[in-house]
Parts: sequence; structure tokens; C-alpha cells
Amino acid sequence: MSKLVLGIETSCDETSAAVLADDVILSNVIHSQVDVHAEWGGVVPELASRHHAEQIDLIIKLALKKASVSLKDIDLIAVTRGPGLVGALLVGLGAAKGLSLAAGIPLVGVDHIQAHIHSTELTHGAAEYPALALVVSGGHTSLFLQPARFQYKLLARTRDDAAGEAYDKVAKLLDLGYPGGPVIDRLAAKGNPAAVRFSRVRMSDGSLDFSFSGLKTAVLAYTKKNADLLKTDDSANHKPLLDLLASFQNAIIAEIESRVRRVAKAEEIRSIGISGGVSMNSGLRGRMATLADEIGIPIYLPKPALTGDNAAMIAYLGAHSHEMGHEAPLVLNADPGLKLAEPSGAKRHPRSG
Ligand code: KG4
Ligand code: ZN
Repeated sequence: MSKLVLGIETSCDETSAAVLADDVILSNVIHSQVDVHAEWGGVVPELASRHHAEQIDLIIKLALKKASVSLKDIDLIAVTRGPGLVGALLVGLGAAKGLSLAAGIPLVGVDHIQAHIHSTELTHGAAEYPALALVVSGGHTSLFLQPARFQYKLLARTRDDAAGEAYDKVAKLLDLGYPGGPVIDRLAAKGNPAAVRFSRVRMSDGSLDFSFSGLKTAVLAYTKKNADLLKTDDSANHKPLLDLLASFQNAIIAEIESRVRRVAKAEEIRSIGISGGVSMNSGLRGRMATLADEIGIPIYLPKPALTGDNAAMIAYLGAHSHEMGHEAPLVLNADPGLKLAEPSGAKRHPRSG
């Protein structure tokens, strides 16, 4: 009998529920709130919680229906407990705890970042260790060294904006819509990445940490200085704009690439994993594949549907976490600032009575 796991994810602006049977995805329903936040150019936390609350029951029902199972067939519920927006997280946790209590199903809390890292396994299986894991999304840009499969050492994080956040902010200032990543990725492919020179970020303390807010400010200054040149009704074909976007994207990728190169020189790594919404970026995928080739190690990326926030990765990690002895008590709370450490979550809670 296969083990059925229901995953629930509501940490940011995607309401998602998924059913997995022994690591096989039976359903992965993702309801994006992009339209809700588009007019604000970024995620508005209160609106996010409200829309999760409106959608969550329906999304869970849909995930069960698409998987052709009912709640009583579910063996484990896995839910994102952090990091993320606290009001948004609480909606998923409330639903998960209610179902767990009503149906007597064990519950496990999952770290969202850890789930992104292991999302590559749903496509490629376990990586070769020691591995380098890069998580690039709208909320995070972090590099972890994984000496072994469920061990994580934080090597670098962003000191200000996340890479996806930089994409979203630059798209907003150039009036390109939200989210900025996909549209800039598409337009950047048509521009010259060497057209505008942006200076490289180097931490004065020699740290590997990222910083993207200076780049965003440089794009803003360039845009103000070249307002006439950039003015267009046809952004998809306006060369000065395409060149600016290609140069911006090139600067983001160069910063990521230089960090990965430094780690690969200093540490014995046998594979590279890249996950999170920005791992969809075609420029990043291409450059990292070339780099991995040059170093002579494999690179693992989630398939497109699993790059952004989704409940399949939560169910997957929840199942493995449960196998390792983790289980959450019903007092499990949201932890918006959860920091990835090994092992994740509380050890199995002794059941009373
Ligand atoms: O992982 P995700 O869905 O949510 C967070 O946990 O943040 O990532 C969303 C982010 C957004 O900032 C979006 O602009 C970015 O991923 N993104 C991309 C691309 N597709 C999505 N960034 C660059 N290129 C893309 N193709
Ligand atoms: Zn995420």
C-alpha cells in the first residue's frame, strides 16, 4: 500500500494543495494570486491572507478530487510552517490542523526553503553529496552547502533584496507588470547583455553574501537619466529597453555565478541544485549549466511546474521528514522567520492518552 500525503502551502501568494503517493505526484493544484497583487506591483500581505482564506478549502478539495482520493485515505498531512507571511501561513496551518484533528491524521510542519531545496528530487532523485544548493525566489536568495542529504550549512544569503524581488521592482519601475521575472526573462533574451555596465557587488568583509538593492538603484538612476531614450509604446521591440533588461539580467546572473564559482573552488562539491521561482530563468539556467559543465559536475533543476511555490514539494519533504521521526503537535504554530537548520521541525511528539 502506498503512503498518501496531503501537502498544503500558503506561505506567500500561491494557495496550493497536492497529493503524493510514495513520492509520485497525483495532484498539485496551484492557485496563484498574481492578479490580486499585480496592481500593487508586489505582494500585499493582508490581501494574500484574505485570498488564501477564501480559496484554501476549495483548493484542498480539488487536490483530493484530482488525485481520486478522499480525506480518509490520507496517511499524513504536511503543511508549510515558515518562513513566509505570518497571516498567509496561518491560513494553511489552520486548515491542516483542522483536518488532522477531525480525521485523526498525523501532521508534520515543513520548512519552505528546505522544501524548495529538495524539490529537485521530485524530478531527478537524490543528488550527489556534498552538494551546493542555491535557492533563488521572490523572498530568498541563499546558498547552502549540503555535506549530506538532510544537512545544511548556510554559506550566503542576501543582505537586502532577493533576486526575484529585484526583478519585480525593476519591472515595476519600468511599467512592465507583475511578476517581473518572466517578462524580463523574455525581453532580456532579445537585448545585448553588455550594453549597460553595472558595477559588480563585492562585500568588504569578503563574505559570499548577495546584495541586489544597489543594482535596482543603478537601474533607477539609468532610467531617469535616459528617460527619452527608453520611452516606448512597444516594449517588446524597443532596443534601448531590451538592452537595459539584458544588462540587468546579466548583472544578476553574474553575481550568482561568481558566488557559485567561489564555493566550487573552496569546497569539494559533487552536484549543484537550483530551486525557487527564479530558477525558471532561461539565462540563469543556461549559464549555470555551462558552469556545471566546466566544473564537471551535474546540475539539478526542478521541472518548471515545481520551480515556484507549490504544495507537492511540501508533501514530498513532509513525507521524508515524517519517516525520519518528525511529527508536529496540534499546537504547531507559524514561524515567519524560520531558519533552516538540521534536523527540521520538532521530533515526534509523544501522544497523550
Ligand atoms: O518561489 P516563488 O514562486 O515565490 C517565493 O517564494 O518568493 O518565486 C517568485 C519569484 C518572483 O519574484 C518572480 O518574479 C520570479 O520568482 N520569477 C522569475 C522567473 N519566473 C519567476 N525570475 C526570473 N526569471 C523568471 N523566468
Ligand atoms: Zn518559495
